[in-house]
Parts: sequence; structure tokens; C-alpha cells
Amino acid sequence: MRVLHTLAELRAALADTPRPAFVPTMGNLHDGHLSLIRQARTLVGPGVPVVASIFVNRLQFGPNEDFDRYPRTLARDCELLEGAGCDLVFAPDEHELYPAPQTFKVVPDAALADLLEGHFRPGFFTGVCTVVMKLLQCVQPSVAVFGRKDYQQLMVIRRMVAQFAMPVRIVAGDTARADDGLALSSRNGYLSAAERAEAVQLSLALQAMQAAIRAGERDVTAIEARAMATMAARDWKPDYMTLRRRADLLAPTEADLVAGTPLVALAAAKLGATRLIDNLEV
Ligand code: PAF
Repeated sequence: MRVLHTLAELRAALADTPRPAFVPTMGNLHDGHLSLIRQARTLVGPGVPVVASIFVNRLQFGPNEDFDRYPRTLARDCELLEGAGCDLVFAPDEHELYPAPQTFKVVPDAALADLLEGHFRPGFFTGVCTVVMKLLQCVQPSVAVFGRKDYQQLMVIRRMVAQFAMPVRIVAGDTARADDGLALSSRNGYLSAAERAEAVQLSLALQAMQAAIRAGERDVTAIEARAMATMAARDWKPDYMTLRRRADLLAPTEADLVAGTPLVALAAAKLGATRLIDNLEV
């Protein structure tokens, strides 16, 4: 496996290869990322490079978010990537990816990107789309794998790729979970031992929302309010605990509930200083 820090090195390494499979990351990797790498390898088979990028993208962090303390663990990440079958790691520094201030930005459709995460993290999806567009230009993959844990991010990227007719297939990777059900996330590393024990409550709350719908409960507002209250009573600060249509992340109508329109339960909540997100298709 080779670790490349410049765009010139990356382009040279990919010059005579078939178009690679690509997994973009911000590093501080866990088993969830590694399963995306293995999925990428399976998608393209032997002889086609699998590329991962490691870049903590300032553009997607708000002024009071964790950009400065986001863990930079390149050496360990590279060992893990090599073990998972990655061929090339693209790990540019900020000056390499943004040699001049990135004044051209990709602004996603507000109807999808200003809800939920976009509402609580203004500008987040502009930052994500801008860097993903740029990374896709750098790597020029035939296929790129994004985790379902970032459900709305995956949807936004799919729409960006479709609307710009970008020649890349976007594939979703399943959320990897710890034994107790907590969705793996780089930010889990911020949790104290007590918080880590409590953290599973987020996925349990999503399961309760899913169970309510599956049991035929139709009052979505009441289901959401119950989930918010349950988390708040346990000292979480939930941003949202909500049931949405999978197709557009809008609230389901009565007709949707009767017709069994596919839904997803989505959650974002702070436990101490750490903000966690998770989701569960219903
Ligand atoms: O999901 C992430 O880790 C990031 O949002 C991504 C896609 C690597 C862009 O910085």
C-alpha cells in the first residue's frame, strides 16, 4: 500500500490503472470504515485499485465544532487500511487540497440539505459536497462507497452525483455496530466510560420508534415526542429524534402511513460534549 500526499503523486499512481474504487474518510478509522474498504474491494475485484482518502475537511465544521480536536491518527489509520486491502491512501494536507481559499463551493438543494443535520449544522452539507466533489475529481473512481450511518449525507451525495451527471456509482455501506448496538463512529472515542455505557440508548430509542410504527401506531408526532423525552430524561440533549420518508426525508403524511411508504428513524443527540447520530430504516 502506498501513502500519497500530493495530487501529482496520486494522479501518477493512477495513470495506468483501471478507474479505482474509492472510500473517502476523515481518518481516525474504525471497523465501520474498514468494512467500507472491504466492500470497495469486493465491488471492483482484484487488479483494480482501492483508494481511501484521509482528510479532515475544515469546510464541513462549524465554528464551535470539533475541527481542532478531531483526532489525526494517520500512522495507525494506514496500518488498518493496509490490513483491509486498501492499495492507495490519499492524505493531502490542507494546503494541497485547498491551495487557495475554496471560494467555489457546491451548494446542495436546500430541500434536502437544510433539514435535520443541515438545520443543526448550517453549511455542513456545502462543506461535504465541496470536498466530495473535489476528491472525486482527484481520484476519478468508477465507484465510491459511503456509510449508511450518515444517511442524509449519502442522500445528498447521491443527488449531487446525479444532478452533475458525474461518472461514478455511489454505493451504500451498512452501519457497523459494537456488540451492544452502538453505531461505530470516530466520535465515540470522545466518550468517557460512563458515557460509552449510556451511548447505546440512542440506538435503543430508534428501535423503540421502529417498533411503534411496526406495531401500527400512527401518531408520528407522539412517537417522536416520546423518544425526545426519553433521551432528555437520561440527560441527553437531543437535536432530533424523528421519523421521515426514506425517499426525501420529509415527514410522512397520513396517506404515507396507510400505504406503508418506507420510512427511516433518524436521531442526533448530545451526550455530554459529544454529538452522536444514528438511524434505522423502519
Ligand atoms: O463522512 C465523512 O467522513 C466525511 O463527511 C467525508 C465524506 C469524508 C467528507 O469529508
